[in-house]
Amino acid sequence: MLPPGSVGLVTSDWQEITEPEGPSVSRVYDYLLGGSHHFAADRVAAMEFLARWPDATETMRVNRAFLGRAVRYLAERAGIRQFLDLGSGIPTAGNVHEIAQRAAPDARIAYVDIDPVAVLHSRAILAGNDNAIAIQADLRKPGEILRHPDLQAHLDLSRPTALLLVAVLHFFPDADEPARLVAELRDALASGSYVVISHGTTDGQPRHVAEAMSHYAQTTAPFVPRGHAEILRYFDDLDLIEPGLVRAPLWRPDDPRDAENAAQVAVYGGVGQIQ
Ligand SMILES: C[S@@+](CC[C@H](N)C(=O)[O-])C[C@H]1O[C@@H](n2cnc3c(N)ncnc32)[C@H](O)[C@@H]1O
Repeated sequence: MLPPGSVGLVTSDWQEITEPEGPSVSRVYDYLLGGSHHFAADRVAAMEFLARWPDATETMRVNRAFLGRAVRYLAERAGIRQFLDLGSGIPTAGNVHEIAQRAAPDARIAYVDIDPVAVLHSRAILAGNDNAIAIQADLRKPGEILRHPDLQAHLDLSRPTALLLVAVLHFFPDADEPARLVAELRDALASGSYVVISHGTTDGQPRHVAEAMSHYAQTTAPFVPRGHAEILRYFDDLDLIEPGLVRAPLWRPDDPRDAENAAQVAVYGGVGQIQ
């Protein structure tokens, strides 16, 4: 029998996983985005977060929209055909493979997440899609990801690739050296590749936003919002694509009205290219 809150998993897969004790980043995020892959502990954490920051879901939605525009830009305008999505999360509307393969049906995607539930759901959604895979791995060990046999069989990293680090680096405290992780991954990619990053911030935010993030960090997982200058360091040695590192809605908006009230959005986004 499937645990409460689970949807869409095949029982044989599910037998590997029992209901986790605490909340997980991917499932709390799924709940906040209106998904259906979460347990009671995730819903409690999400509701505590929303009680402190009622507009949080708007920032999540804006982050997903940034991800979608960046992938579309890379597939349609930059000719990228390989996507390595690290911290990919639980699939929801507008997944990377759907957007990339709409523009280029031969686009190949590798999703990587640490959460086994996210990886199982990804595999269920990707069944029948030979050009997309999901791998369970820890982004804090980039060498293991890069050497993973499934990744090596699926992507040819000697060809231009888009590395997606969207809404994930803020889960790494400074002790994890996120800038070093980004540099190690960047150095493994071919010239002409791209790096897409979004990252939570408290820049210009009211105090309750910082308090909500701090409470989340105490109850769910480490969460380290960073300022513009610090996030910009992740783009060291990359050529930033216009308009640079900006509040996520300001990154090539489809409709100028989407960029209204951008300063109220607690996430920066940017895309850089490897020369
Ligand atoms: C907020 S979600 C972002 C999902 C997706 N990138 C997006 O922006 O919509 C962050 C994801 O990062 C994953 N994550 C956190 N720490 C990780 C790690 N050390 N290695 C791999 N994935 C990790 C979580 O499991 C979660 O699915």
